[in-house]
Amino acid sequence: MAKLLIRDLAQVVSPRGPGFPVRGREAMRALDVVENGYVLCEEDVIVEVGRMADLGPVDGEVRELDGRGRAALPGLVDCHTHAVFAGSRAQEFELRSAEASYEELHAVGGGILSTVEATRAAGQDGLRAALERHRRWMLASGTTTVEAKSGYGLDRETELAMLRVVRDAGGVPTWLGAHAVPPEFSSADDYLDFALAEVLPEAAQLAEAADVFLERGAFDASQARRYLEACKEAGLRLRLHADQFTEAGGIPLALELGAISVDHLEATRPEGVRMLAAGDVAAVLLPVAALFLGRPMPPGRELIDAGAIVALASDFNPGSAFAESLPLVCSLACTQLHMTPAEALTACTVNAAHVLGRADRVGRLTPGYAADVLLLDAPDWRYLAYHLGGNHVAEVIQAGVLTA
Ligand code: NIG
Ligand code: FE
Repeated sequence: MAKLLIRDLAQVVSPRGPGFPVRGREAMRALDVVENGYVLCEEDVIVEVGRMADLGPVDGEVRELDGRGRAALPGLVDCHTHAVFAGSRAQEFELRSAEASYEELHAVGGGILSTVEATRAAGQDGLRAALERHRRWMLASGTTTVEAKSGYGLDRETELAMLRVVRDAGGVPTWLGAHAVPPEFSSADDYLDFALAEVLPEAAQLAEAADVFLERGAFDASQARRYLEACKEAGLRLRLHADQFTEAGGIPLALELGAISVDHLEATRPEGVRMLAAGDVAAVLLPVAALFLGRPMPPGRELIDAGAIVALASDFNPGSAFAESLPLVCSLACTQLHMTPAEALTACTVNAAHVLGRADRVGRLTPGYAADVLLLDAPDWRYLAYHLGGNHVAEVIQAGVLTA
């Protein structure tokens, strides 16, 4: 059995267990911090975490990693990305910088539909290569578990190819079959007839969850309901892109259908916050998307204080959030959403893992959990969020293997 001993760490830090999801300000701020510590992994699992002073002899073959001057954290969990895409939206970025809004570009066939065109043309091998490239960027920022959605194919072949490449790369695939209406359909209802009859049966075999973009110009609440009900029937967990630009009934629908999350929430008002606090649907906040599009920030502080389940994610995609770094997301959570560094860490580890149905095995640095460990080149774990736009990720161990 191969063992990996990470020794002499300045700090070993984990959201306190047990139990998930973690809700409320007190629980989200509760971390276990071991000073002068070690982490011992065996194969792909953490077997011990403790103080150097208590480290006993370790038998068998042991590979040692010097952790001096470093803080160890659980590998980060990105529970909302669109990491499979081809093409570029650099030109749109330029237009948006001074001339046009995201919604205006979407309405004239730019935006999501321009990525659909490039993604359809890439083929499965092209998509595989694109995802691998994006995964390398994410790993270098400390992400060891990643969800990725389809939604840039919107035809049978490309949607299924997207899900396949995510699954083959060890990611968590989500079928975003209702992202936009592709140009060959004249209405959202006609497109949904096709997607539910022709794509869902196979998508349900590949994906773990289904997602819909509930927004003016995309799908309305009754179309979202129809799509989600069919996906639930097929055994998928449910997620929604909701309240990004307008409140269009996403939160009540998510609660009624027992969705696992509603994501975005830049437009959510106090009543929506109250509803989420009273239910079990997680709020996945994507502050990079708000920043990138110059939109209001989602109500992170209010959601946590009210007792809602709060997770953070990158929303990594070529149009509204071209940034893969969860440390950057944590910086924005602290500076824009008024969350503390501990709340931000809990939100992109345990609670993000909960959204992906994996909180019993990833998101904590504790025995029995996956050997996914992030080492910062700083003796204080708060550098994760503190250094805005910096990258203190020194080493990333994924399933017991040193990767970056
Ligand atoms: O989460 N809001 C819709 N979907 C993505 C953006 C996708 C794109 O612009 O390509 C989002 O922001
Ligand atoms: Fe998204």
